Amino acid sequence: MRKLLCAICALLCLALNAGAADLRPPLLLTGSIYRDSQDLSGAWTYSKDLYRTGLTDINGWVAKSRMQRYRDIDVTAEEAKGGVGFYEFDMDRGPQMNIPGAWNAAQPELRYYDGLIWFQRKFSARPLRGQRAFLRFEAANYRAYVYLNGKEIGRHEGGFTPFVLEVTEALRGGENRLTMGVDSTHDAQTIPTPITDWDLYGGITRPVRLVYTPATFIDDAYLHLNPDGSIAGTVQLNGPQAAGQQVSVKIGDLADISVKTDAQGGATITLPPPRGLQRWSPEHPALYDISFSTAGDTLRDRIGFRTIAVKGSRILLNGQPIFLRGVSMHEEEFGPNPARNMTEPAARALLSEIKQQLHGNYVRLSHYPHSETTLRLADEMGLLVWSEIPVYWTVDWDNPAVLRKALTMQAETIYRDRNRAAVILWSVGNETPVSEPRTRFHAAMAANVRALDPTRLISAALLVERHKANGEDVTVIKDPLLEHLDVLAVNTYTGWYGDDKLADLPAMKWQVPADRPLILSEFGADALAGYHDASMKKFSEEYQAEYYRNTLTMASRIPTLAGMSPWVLKDFRSPRREHPVFQNGWNRKGLLSETGARKQAFDVLADFYLHH
Ligand code: GCU
Repeated sequence: MRKLLCAICALLCLALNAGAADLRPPLLLTGSIYRDSQDLSGAWTYSKDLYRTGLTDINGWVAKSRMQRYRDIDVTAEEAKGGVGFYEFDMDRGPQMNIPGAWNAAQPELRYYDGLIWFQRKFSARPLRGQRAFLRFEAANYRAYVYLNGKEIGRHEGGFTPFVLEVTEALRGGENRLTMGVDSTHDAQTIPTPITDWDLYGGITRPVRLVYTPATFIDDAYLHLNPDGSIAGTVQLNGPQAAGQQVSVKIGDLADISVKTDAQGGATITLPPPRGLQRWSPEHPALYDISFSTAGDTLRDRIGFRTIAVKGSRILLNGQPIFLRGVSMHEEEFGPNPARNMTEPAARALLSEIKQQLHGNYVRLSHYPHSETTLRLADEMGLLVWSEIPVYWTVDWDNPAVLRKALTMQAETIYRDRNRAAVILWSVGNETPVSEPRTRFHAAMAANVRALDPTRLISAALLVERHKANGEDVTVIKDPLLEHLDVLAVNTYTGWYGDDKLADLPAMKWQVPADRPLILSEFGADALAGYHDASMKKFSEEYQAEYYRNTLTMASRIPTLAGMSPWVLKDFRSPRREHPVFQNGWNRKGLLSETGARKQAFDVLADFYLHH
């Protein structure tokens, strides 16, 4: 135990000395969707590079120039000159792909491509006249190498979080050539590792924008409601005139105050409880138009104000107990060939099934940070959110560099989403087998969340154990991570994996800590939509529906149950699932098929939520 404690201390020091300031991305451009920007979505050319010849030559030497896709050249024009030089790529005459969207859905030959692909698009920027320009990438899975007009401007690791690169100096008048290498390869030191239960979806999966700002601009602003009803927050300027600036903060028609930035261009905001504040809730998702303005710049956002806390075994939203009626969801749009292109209509189609059809108030956005589009829609529609980074099953727990990646991904997520009232839970892991290194890793992640965002709750989707006590079958939660969590959560598949009979589920006993809320973060069973079997064979809709009925009866008997997010809203792609009749590369635990066909179990859950 002593060894564990000093090891946790060591990791906490590592985590805390990589505190919020150290992990804050250098540029955030919060609220960039409201800023003056050019959306670079559309047709990009691409060039496969499975052997990474554009990055390195054999033996790790610098890549041969004839392979460097990012070069600022017109290959056709070069070839027209004749001579001895030649190229083994041409980004102008290459095939095209619609961006954003994963390459797996773009071409049959790319369906299972796992490696490096170079993308390029040309664009004209306007003359800056003293302004600054940035490229903001909402996500690229998994590593990104970005070049503008032949110069490397930055790199990023992580498939689900945004990054911002300044291009003020690299931009030129007229046509610019943006080249981006995206390498989808995962390994034992990535987060996640290659071992997951979802499809790869490599490439530029979310929008890319060219954002213009004044020389000194408001890079980030954050507001939240305190338990006493006051409002607190921060604002951070970036640029030569960041220090000593007056910042006017308007919150709808509720408040209009002014703060002055310090020598580092930052300021904290505190507001007494505004009269007439409408708190955000799933029933009344009140959002306020917020503006932060200096003499030269304005940052806008739409923010809801609510409080979230735990008291004993209850989750309190705005001081009132709430039961989280939810479901888990991957970032994958409806349709037979999804590209993980989460447009607003695609996200609305998914979230409406939860809100309107299932009568839900909550969604577990598993197993990685979802698109900002989805988060903003959850704010607008009134769905509480569980957010997580893909520390999933196993990662290299003893590797400080891997921990640093996890803490960085947490920071990128929290800085991106902390203005979203919908987000109430930061989860630090999913189904990670208990070991000392794993618990140290998660403890450091929990400490990191507390340092970055003390206003929200911490959870993790844990594994359960089954014990026999007095001849009874008891499900037990025993995990050293419990002490770091505000809300307990477990994934349980009794009745699907294993040989339990569905009829035995309702009577199954649970032994859980009485002092904390419990969420059933996953339970589920596969069913192929349209496959019916009166004898309820597995993979039939009837089996899945009976599984739900009996699991819901069992769940209702857990005294500390505060919510659930059954696995999963809709069937999703997974190369782990290859039964040639029932699966064909789809995980069929959806309550809906991939094309949106409702299965019988959908109505079982909808009815349960309607009456709970
Ligand atoms: C696990 C895991 C999910 C997976 C599910 C399943 O609980 O968290 O990502 O898809 O089980 O087996 O279908």
